[in-house]
Amino acid sequence: MEPTVSSPAPESGSNDARRSFIAKMSAAVLGGFALVVPALTALTAYLNPVRQRSPGGEFFRLTALATLPEDGTPRRFPVITDRRDAWNRYPREPIGAVWLRRTGDQQDPVAAFQVVCPHAGCIIGLDTTPDGVRFFCPCHVAGFDLEGRRTDRPSPSPRDMDRLEVELRDGEVWVKFENFILGTSQQIAES
Ligand code: FES
Repeated sequence: MEPTVSSPAPESGSNDARRSFIAKMSAAVLGGFALVVPALTALTAYLNPVRQRSPGGEFFRLTALATLPEDGTPRRFPVITDRRDAWNRYPREPIGAVWLRRTGDQQDPVAAFQVVCPHAGCIIGLDTTPDGVRFFCPCHVAGFDLEGRRTDRPSPSPRDMDRLEVELRDGEVWVKFENFILGTSQQIAES
């Protein structure tokens, strides 16, 4: 009697159908992810409380002219206003700061500068040298004179300090507060 040789059973039609169904489901799930993930990302970005809107390019009253030293020494003032994001309103919060100084010029008696360094966004302070006071950014050692001009050549800063528009209204100093794009040679306001 000849030995019985077993051979693999032929694949059934139901196995093919199952494979086809699984492949279609996988494609549908992956396709769904491809659509849902960007939509969720956009929604999260929109609702994120960090996405806060602060008014820029508006005039703010910062101080009375009489508070500025007659000798031209700069003084720093916060810019305070109401702030809001997609969910909340935050009354009376600082949105930035400005250096103010008297210039001694009748036509343009007060100069205002952004405290943010145009190089990489550190805060510019004051430094006392044997030659007097100057503006100074400690992050990458950039010096500026009291007109906001760079004193070092080359300087880490790609431009002079960002000067802001000033209006005197009944003895009070109003400044058009704006933020500017960092790292560019031109002073370009953020939109
Ligand atoms: S951030 Fe001011 S010098 Fe670099």
